Amino acid sequence: MKKQKIKNLFFIIIFLSTLNISYAQDSSIENKIDSLLAKMTLQEKIGQLVRRTDYDKNSVEMIKEGKIGVMGYYKRSTRDSLQKIAVEQTKLHIPLLFAADVIHGFNTTFPVPLAQSCSWDPDLAEKAASIAAFEASSNGLDWTFDPMIDIARDPRWGRIVEGAGEDPYLGSIMAAAYVRGFQGNNLKDKWTIAATAKHYVAYGAAQAGRDYNTVDISERTLREIYLPPFHAAVNVGVASIMSAFDDLNGVPASANYFTLTKILRDEWHYKGVVISDYNSIGELMNQGIAKDKQDAAREAITAGVDIDLVGDTVVDGVYNQYLETLVKNKVVPESLIDRSVRRVLRMKFRMGIFEHPYVDTAYFKKNMPSKKYKNKIALELARESIVLLKNKNHLLPLKKKIHSIALIGPLANDQEDLLGPWSGMGLPENNISVFTGIKNEMPAGVKINYAKGCGILDTSRSGFDDAVKAVENSDVAILVVGESRKMSGEAASRATLCLPGVQEELVEKLTKIGKPVVVVLMNGRPLTIDWISKNVQAVLETWFLGCQGGNAIADVLFGRYNPSGKLTTTFPRSVGQIPLFYNHMNTGRPPKIDERYSSKYLDMPFTPLYPFGYGLSYTTFKFSNIKVVKKKINKNDSLKVLVDIKNTGSYAGTEIAQLYIRDLVADVTRPVKELKGFKRVFLNPGETKIITFTITPKLLEFYNIDMKKTIEPGKFNVMIGGNSDDVLTSSFEFVK
Ligand code: BGC
Repeated sequence: MKKQKIKNLFFIIIFLSTLNISYAQDSSIENKIDSLLAKMTLQEKIGQLVRRTDYDKNSVEMIKEGKIGVMGYYKRSTRDSLQKIAVEQTKLHIPLLFAADVIHGFNTTFPVPLAQSCSWDPDLAEKAASIAAFEASSNGLDWTFDPMIDIARDPRWGRIVEGAGEDPYLGSIMAAAYVRGFQGNNLKDKWTIAATAKHYVAYGAAQAGRDYNTVDISERTLREIYLPPFHAAVNVGVASIMSAFDDLNGVPASANYFTLTKILRDEWHYKGVVISDYNSIGELMNQGIAKDKQDAAREAITAGVDIDLVGDTVVDGVYNQYLETLVKNKVVPESLIDRSVRRVLRMKFRMGIFEHPYVDTAYFKKNMPSKKYKNKIALELARESIVLLKNKNHLLPLKKKIHSIALIGPLANDQEDLLGPWSGMGLPENNISVFTGIKNEMPAGVKINYAKGCGILDTSRSGFDDAVKAVENSDVAILVVGESRKMSGEAASRATLCLPGVQEELVEKLTKIGKPVVVVLMNGRPLTIDWISKNVQAVLETWFLGCQGGNAIADVLFGRYNPSGKLTTTFPRSVGQIPLFYNHMNTGRPPKIDERYSSKYLDMPFTPLYPFGYGLSYTTFKFSNIKVVKKKINKNDSLKVLVDIKNTGSYAGTEIAQLYIRDLVADVTRPVKELKGFKRVFLNPGETKIITFTITPKLLEFYNIDMKKTIEPGKFNVMIGGNSDDVLTSSFEFVK
């Protein structure tokens, strides 16, 4: 009995710790808000719900009249002078917030988020986000529109590069890490910035992978796939959420009462701010649910959007023009405006902006992390983000006896594209190119024969001959190919996923020469590289790695770092297979190669080229002895699963052990695998470690036929392995 009580207490503590504690009601703040609200005119209230990015005479006047609450990014002195107007020359002295996108670094450029997720190292990603927060806040930014935590199952969608891939469990862990990184433990700390979980919600499910396109998914898919990262962000106290562009099941995300109020406020008890995406309120007219801007303003504020992101920038904005009329005509009650203003003011109090409205340069001078530290984190994260896709006959790491290297490709000597999309204040000249990285690191006496070969989008083959000569005169060829940084990110969807231009042709021509070839890919999404994966000896996926990219790639090529990254998004063989993701349902006729009437293609394997969780190392790891300690658990219990991992090769290295479960029989169909845990495990050659995962009842929950969260009694498979396709399996039972 006593034991049971202790156990219950344990679960209560766990439960409480997952609540949105950082937003616990602070009555002194609420009282201050009450007294401000009582003094505000309707126009001043609406001012708090408007972000203006244009900075001109007109905006200065608007600030003086209290008609702007949030602004964009300006240089520090401009920012502080605008702030001075708000603090000293307005009736209520409410400071402004300055908000813009800080995505994967501010001055120091870290790997793009998709790359960072391949590290499966949320702690390191959190450190990078903290550095970005330090740099941004020292430059006068208070608030970032990041992290982007949209699950993406379609690599045609260019914004897949901005998120953590296809999995809701990993996506939730990365979401929480970024929020913690930006916001620290206390948003009042001067180095922190408010984070924004975006784009709420299901923006990544755009039909045909075309950006801004319609989304039509079941409530189950919404709740089980797209919502979890947002819930995770809310649970760690994210300050704001951005409502998305998409039409979600017939109700655009920026006018969606169900997601913005019912789920976010009523179910999750979120107390922060909701800001629209860029003109997503105005676009309600195009989407056909508002006849004019006034109608659009009504839809958005009623559904729960607090701030118009482009207050009066895009064709005069929506909220700043129409909220007043709506209230005066009694279409929208003033209490709705008050509710949103309360959230904005709460955010401002919570951030401490009333106490320190200006940038404290002395503080940053003293506390800014050193350049050395920032570059160290950038390098570590870049190394961990690299995924080794193929390494036939251990071509990599390159051996000491190499005398010459042909370095070829449009991205081989590039500094600009390493920035990736959303580069903040990052500068190309701060980026180490692959050429420089290799030069820095290669053993003395090795010669580099460089030739560009072609441009990224080129149709000309005029550079091929020089490239051929370079390869013929070298011991090994390194071909750095891929996409430009503008080919992924917002409004950068692609209908084909091959290497653009004549790059694939170049790779084929050079590979056929017969020298050992390493393809180094730089791109913002999975590419269809079937030919390369079959014919080239070694392939590295490096995404866009940021300022330390060239050093990280050279470290991997020469073996100073043993790659450990694992894909967080499935690589299809062909666009025709999309959508292709690991956590799909089973069909009544699961694919079987020699059974015609099974779920497959006539002209292509049904399997991906590289599955979720996949990535090689210079060493090999063997998983064995999977053991479930107890065969049964109930709702008050948890269960340990053990597995041995042995480093069976000759390099020290890190394996990312992945835990998957499958609910075998349930009220509704369940995925064939769902990631529920992972561990980074470092092992010396010959070393074995026993790894333990704990399965709690929470991990077994799903939405039943009535869309209620539940766990059904019955058998579960538990699987552990080095990727989603290669696992050891055991099982246990959940009992009432
Ligand atoms: C993007 C957002 C971004 C916003 C502000 C929009 O076009 O969708 O992700 O935060 O612009 O820059």
